[in-house]
Amino acid sequence: MGGKIGTDVELAAGLLRSGKPVGLPTETVYGLAANGLDPNAISQIFEIKNRPFFDPLILHVASIQQAMEFTHSWSEEAKQLAAAFWPGPLTLVLPKNNLVPDLVTSGNPTVAVRIPNHSIALELLQQLDFPLAAPSANPFGYVSPTTAMHVFDQLGDKVPYILDGGPCMRGLESTIVACLPNQQPKILRLGSISVHEISMVIGEIDESLTQNSNPSAPGQLDQHYSPYCKLEALENLTFAQTQLPTTAKKAILLFSKTKIQNQLVDIDNFTPKIDKFYLSENGDTNQAAQQLFSMLRQFDALKYTHVWFEWAPETGLGRAINDRLRRAAAKR
Ligand code: TXA
Ligand code: MG
Repeated sequence: MGGKIGTDVELAAGLLRSGKPVGLPTETVYGLAANGLDPNAISQIFEIKNRPFFDPLILHVASIQQAMEFTHSWSEEAKQLAAAFWPGPLTLVLPKNNLVPDLVTSGNPTVAVRIPNHSIALELLQQLDFPLAAPSANPFGYVSPTTAMHVFDQLGDKVPYILDGGPCMRGLESTIVACLPNQQPKILRLGSISVHEISMVIGEIDESLTQNSNPSAPGQLDQHYSPYCKLEALENLTFAQTQLPTTAKKAILLFSKTKIQNQLVDIDNFTPKIDKFYLSENGDTNQAAQQLFSMLRQFDALKYTHVWFEWAPETGLGRAINDRLRRAAAKR
């Protein structure tokens, strides 16, 4: 792989200073990072990902103080959330000032910011005198990467360097909360911090998980996070599908070993056999979240053509997992 993947933070910092993009490990998913104040560098991110310009980026910063350099009008709730979850998988949408290029925010008067909880990402951010704009490092619409190799597989020829921080501990993107003046705080995207955890800090919180073609959080597009194989909910599995031609390679993705929620299908009696996988053998939603994207990628790598999945229970991170599954399975 020609030294393209490595742990050289100085090298990554040098590339970023010269306006180049770099693969960035975080605790959630790998990002494709560039100087968040340099429109030229930022435009390369959109080009490499084939990402539409209406989809704004998250600014990654090293400290609350640095976040405050680019934002204003922090509400009490915003302060409480930052204090409780940063560094960590929480993204705050706040009013921006004019240091932030329009390209980062798609012209919005607000900007999304977070401090990632990953030692290499933090070390890098501390060396830089600018924030890093970084979307997930996948081609637009595909499954998010949770290892350096995932980034290399798809974007290796377009990115000069990928910092390797090991497999992502969380595996699912940050939870996005908008804290805007004269509005109640709102969850815009479910993610690695559950709604329950957030409500423990600021009380009951509204959700605005829009699902149309001009969303305020395009991670909320109906179809997103999709592998190439045909992905369908298990309840849609029909007998006819078990009889697909022998060229079809089929798998079932169960949430856990302990509980098969959908009793309609007696999976073990299928002939020919359908391979079985588990998001978390003992039914832990954190582990399932950590596994989800790498499993979806593995189905493509192993050339499965049809995969049926079981929904997660709606507890813990189960809702966020189901959100990703639903979008991953949505028709293109
Ligand atoms: O965990 C994460 O958040 C990862 C890591 C790399 O930090 N990043 C990530 O970025 O998931 P991305 O670009 O794949 O998703 C960011 C989401 C997008 O859906 C975008 O629309 C939303 O954040 N977003 C960014 N700025 C926004 C804003 N000003 N208002 C509303 N939504 C915003
Ligand atoms: Mg993404």
